[in-house]
Amino acid sequence: MANIAKTLAGRVHNVIQIAAKNPQLAPRFYSAAANLEFIKTEVTGEKKNVAVITLNRPKALNALCNGLMKELSTALDSFEKDKSIAAIVITGSEKAFAAGADIKEMQPNTYSQCIMGNFLNDWTRVARCQKPIIAAVNGYALGGGCELAMMCDIIYAGDKAKFAQPEIALGTIPGAGGTQRLTRVVGKSKAMEICLTGNMINAEEAEKMGLVSKVIPADKLVGEAVKLGEKIGSHSGLIVQLCKEAVNTAYETTLQEGLKFERRTFHATFSTEDRKEGMTAFVEKRPAKFSNL
Ligand code: CAA
Repeated sequence: MANIAKTLAGRVHNVIQIAAKNPQLAPRFYSAAANLEFIKTEVTGEKKNVAVITLNRPKALNALCNGLMKELSTALDSFEKDKSIAAIVITGSEKAFAAGADIKEMQPNTYSQCIMGNFLNDWTRVARCQKPIIAAVNGYALGGGCELAMMCDIIYAGDKAKFAQPEIALGTIPGAGGTQRLTRVVGKSKAMEICLTGNMINAEEAEKMGLVSKVIPADKLVGEAVKLGEKIGSHSGLIVQLCKEAVNTAYETTLQEGLKFERRTFHATFSTEDRKEGMTAFVEKRPAKFSNL
């Protein structure tokens, strides 16, 4: 299994490398070349520094089967290693970002299989990515789909997006962060209502409760998410990574510990070339040229 994953990672990476070096030769989507079954990958943006991963399992509304999650992890491994990539966008189709974990695949699972196989453990790959990830959510983001979006750093929603944690109606509970990440984002009362009813909330409501940072017309969504990736990519990748780690620390620790971590990380930026360059460029009234050093 590890070998298959390695080979797939190599293929995705090679295709991306060819595309990065020869943009004029690069096909817009690389799924055929990389033998990807459940996702498509693309490198885009003016500087070709934003990766777009499109979940591509339309017949099942992008239900997150094991194969899809493996391909997603492998693509993330590849984009994380690729120095030319500054940010990653994960999106789905107009009808569905993802309709959750694959119910048909997990329906026969037993308790023992879940425990022994540590079911869903490998889904955390998205949350462990060091580069910024933007979820561009059109259509349904249900169950694991909503959880996948919440593992990303920023969520942009199309105006027809619908979010829910409907596991309760299946006789189970969210298993990839629905009860934990959602509660931290929207607070107990709203999270409790969403998880205990399984009701869908629309994009406008999701924005109001802070689950998504922006609602955008559906057909402009991915373009706007890419622009956001490009804006982030115009800064030092090194400092972006430190900043992401500092914000994420707010979810993991007490305020005092978090403030200490932030201050020490701020101090650490003073050992970087990019901090020197950023401040010198400001003083010299010129754009900064960052080197990730
Ligand atoms: N798993 C597997 N297949 C799914 C699926 C899922 N989560 N969601 C949709 N599909 C499949 C359907 O079975 C159907 O396939 P067939 O044509 O072979 O029957 C196809 O996708 C289209 O779906 P519908 O016909 O149901 O489309 P619809 O437009 O009538 O309804 C929907 C759309 C409201 C999203 C509905 O499909 C639905 O309720 N899906 C399930 C949502 C859900 O419960 N998600 C939570 C999963 S559990 C989970 O995610 C646990 C976790 O925390 C990780």
